[in-house]
Amino acid sequence: MSFNAPLSEAHADAIAARLAYAHPVDVLDIGCGWGELMLRVLERAPDATGLGVDTDEELLGRGRIAAVERGLSERAVFLNTPGVAVEQQADLVICVGASHAFGGNAAALTALMQHVRPGGRLFYGDGLWDPAYSVKQPDLVWEDFFELPDLAGLVDLAVATGYLPLFTETASPEELDDFESRYLADDEEWLLRHPNHPRAAHVRAAAEDHRRRWLHGYRGAFGFGYLTLGRPSA
Ligand SMILES: C[S@@+](CC[C@H](N)C(=O)[O-])C[C@H]1O[C@@H](n2cnc3c(N)ncnc32)[C@H](O)[C@@H]1O
Repeated sequence: MSFNAPLSEAHADAIAARLAYAHPVDVLDIGCGWGELMLRVLERAPDATGLGVDTDEELLGRGRIAAVERGLSERAVFLNTPGVAVEQQADLVICVGASHAFGGNAAALTALMQHVRPGGRLFYGDGLWDPAYSVKQPDLVWEDFFELPDLAGLVDLAVATGYLPLFTETASPEELDDFESRYLADDEEWLLRHPNHPRAAHVRAAAEDHRRRWLHGYRGAFGFGYLTLGRPSA
């Protein structure tokens, strides 16, 4: 997976180009994973520095290696820090799929505002739920999905928090399917080669549970929104 979110290569490149176009001096990616989007912005903003924070050391390690391989290690730092402990401000803050680090959308959007320098931007990505979609098997849907906002609700929340919406977009159905398939791919490829391994039954059961929830439960109703939000100048 290039991203731990439903985001295609082409879509990520378009977002990174748009974010870099605003000439951020610094980029702060909270819940960065391996920080791929931050690295893509830094590649397009050659004077910018980046700080990625996450609590998963393995993912941070992948980000550090990628930064070295792409000649960005002088400008990109990855720290093992919980989101709530971050103190820095930046021209561009990124937070994709990590609202839970703050306790949900409302708390995340409020906390992240303090990290965006006045006049700067927040690129925010999180799950959506289509309340009009008729789910065939609600018992297969992860319970917290039912509490997710729809796109209008997420944008309204951002506006109520004080942001100016600059660009509103969503993951396409193809990006969502691709994300789920990639999520399962490691285990399914492994099962193809190790059908009789002692761990195979456990791995197969977990993959089948996830695939059933995706295809019979939340596919079509679950979505993902990407908001580019401005913090008005003081
Ligand atoms: C769905 S992943 C998204 C990763 C990345 N933003 C991306 O789009 O590829 C959520 C990330 O949040 C991180 N995370 C979870 N709790 C956190 C916390 N309290 N502080 C910082 N990061 C956290 C996870 O380790 C994970 O990398």
